[in-house]
Amino acid sequence: MSNFVCDNIGATQGGHLTFGGLDTVELAKQYGTPLYLMDEDRIRHNIRVYTEAIAKYMPAGSGILYASKAASFKEMYRIAGQEGIGVDVVSPGELMTAAAAGFDLSNVFFHGNNKTDDDIWLAMDQGIGYFVVDNAEELAVIDREADTRGIVQKILLRLTPGIDPHTYAAINTGKVDSKFGTAIETGQAEQLTVYALSLKHVRLSGFHCHVGSQVFAEDVFERSASVMLEFAAGIRAKTGYTAGMIDLGGGYGVRYVDSDPYLDIAKKIRGVAQSVRATCIRLSMEPPAILLEPGRSIVADAGMTLYTVGTVKHIPGYRNYVSIDGGMSDNPRYALYGARYTVLPADRLNEERKMVCTLAGRCCESGDVIQDNILMPEDIGRGDLVAVCTTGAYNYSMASNYNRIGRPPVVMLQGGESRIAVRRESLDDLLRLDI
Ligand code: LLP
Repeated sequence: MSNFVCDNIGATQGGHLTFGGLDTVELAKQYGTPLYLMDEDRIRHNIRVYTEAIAKYMPAGSGILYASKAASFKEMYRIAGQEGIGVDVVSPGELMTAAAAGFDLSNVFFHGNNKTDDDIWLAMDQGIGYFVVDNAEELAVIDREADTRGIVQKILLRLTPGIDPHTYAAINTGKVDSKFGTAIETGQAEQLTVYALSLKHVRLSGFHCHVGSQVFAEDVFERSASVMLEFAAGIRAKTGYTAGMIDLGGGYGVRYVDSDPYLDIAKKIRGVAQSVRATCIRLSMEPPAILLEPGRSIVADAGMTLYTVGTVKHIPGYRNYVSIDGGMSDNPRYALYGARYTVLPADRLNEERKMVCTLAGRCCESGDVIQDNILMPEDIGRGDLVAVCTTGAYNYSMASNYNRIGRPPVVMLQGGESRIAVRRESLDDLLRLDI
């Protein structure tokens, strides 16, 4: 275990930060900043922790779908394909990125609370494996379209199990009061299931739920598994239909700062598997295949962002601002959620850090802050290199062109080598759509 927030982070003797075994100062020189780094070895390791534990503990047919909203670009789908896992997509953009990467679309699950007709046509054109159907309206459209095409479309139904995972409100999704899914508590989930079973052009493969993200609470997945299994048992008793698949969504938390706990994913999976088996025995049912949809816990600690320091402002009695060449346009998570991050002076790790400061971006907005209350060397200044750790999830994928700032490139690190996965957005790219 290194002393850093994640064990793929280290330091050279000269005080340079390393990531995935490579010197970040060298990487910044080679590729420029701001720069997203992605440690491919770590991504594959994280995937294997899931797949190995699932193979060991979960019922046959169980597996993971990588929730590609966490980081979506072609290389991610290639890795998922090579690792033999499925993916979840939520938009035509994610779907077509998977297709462009040669990902087998029969292993793709299409999510979303408001899929448009065009989304549904496109996904069917592409031979999507499954729709995770959110509501009755969408179900009717899918059935009608499948009828027109003379196919039977596989689906799951997204249900809300009424569980609060106690993370921050913007990412809670499993409560009854949610824009996602159809509630079990109100009886609507049962109505939706009966409706799905009455349709000729869809095949119901099972049920889905997702309760939230960055979840550390003890038994959230065990509880949602038992609510879902009880629902499935109730449906079996009423209709004779047996669900072959229960998808428990994603959500396991990752370490952003030293005070965050370590989550032993393999142990968590064993716990959920035990609870699934016990519940199935109690309900006298065959354990269905269990799917999990991790996003953050696959890519977050595989990412790091490098920035170059520009202006440093000391406002006596108030605050010190260290401004960098990126900002909320490449990482909006502090502005949106007050998200915590570990920030390090990547070229000056051997020096004392005594100056409390705010790491500010370059966007024209006061809320453009990457992190508050961090410690930096007192004379940090123009040209120094700063690293923000654990940025692999929901950074590149949530980046914007606010202030017409181009998005940084994504550079993959693997086996001591680096290569570009997504190139830097140029001024020409930014002008490409303007007439
Ligand atoms: N499955 C579904 C249906 C989801 O909605 C999500 C995340 C996941 C899986 C993956 O969850 P994960 O394993 O990554 O926690 N932008 C926010 C996170 C939003 C999560 C949305 N759904 C953030 O930056 O924290």
